[in-house]
Amino acid sequence: MTQDELKQAVGDAAAQYLLPHLEERTIVGVGTGSTANCFIDALARHKHLFDGTVASSEASAQRLREHGIPVYDLNAVDSIDYYIDGADEINHRLEMIKGGGAALTREKIVAAVARHFICIADQSKLVDTLGSFPLPVEVIPMARSHVAREIVKLGGDPVYRDGVITDNGGQILDVYNLRIDAAITLEKQLNQITGVITNGLFAMRPANTLLLGTDEGVKTLT
Ligand code: 5RP
Repeated sequence: MTQDELKQAVGDAAAQYLLPHLEERTIVGVGTGSTANCFIDALARHKHLFDGTVASSEASAQRLREHGIPVYDLNAVDSIDYYIDGADEINHRLEMIKGGGAALTREKIVAAVARHFICIADQSKLVDTLGSFPLPVEVIPMARSHVAREIVKLGGDPVYRDGVITDNGGQILDVYNLRIDAAITLEKQLNQITGVITNGLFAMRPANTLLLGTDEGVKTLT
């Protein structure tokens, strides 16, 4: 199967996974990216079964609205049972690198609220050690060079993602050449650098479930 077919398969599988849990008052957290888009399209078939969504980006909010699915401000909802999102890399502890689509901060906020984080990914995303994919770090623009110098001290090679402004008005540094053996420690270290909005390591709050698209079908890992 192609990577796009695997993304479609896990998007469909996530919608099927949610079906028994969808009720009149259910709010679904929705992530960002091409895999999340597959999920949005699959979820749209069941839009009459639940209340609405909270989106982790303006792009996902727009796609949801185009399907006629209500999108709420996170401050307007009391709780989110399920958050469904993709990842750039995920390890066997279900720790992730996210932010390839520059939505990491809002993704991390919605994931923090959600009781259950379901990661949807094709088989190419599952790794033994995080770090081959450059780690995105969102920064306050005036702090970009300072943050980059501090990241070099931690052993990484930060590269400014030129021309990208996030939904929060931040900029992105993509950090190369990190071998991430202690993801929680690094996640905390990076967040302590003044000027960092957040970083794309999801280790303090990993996924609860991984729906992995493989050539043998969608596998569920917990
Ligand atoms: C966006 C993300 C995405 O989940 C991640 O980049 C994976 O994207 P895709 O499903 O397109 O491969 O973190 O900020």
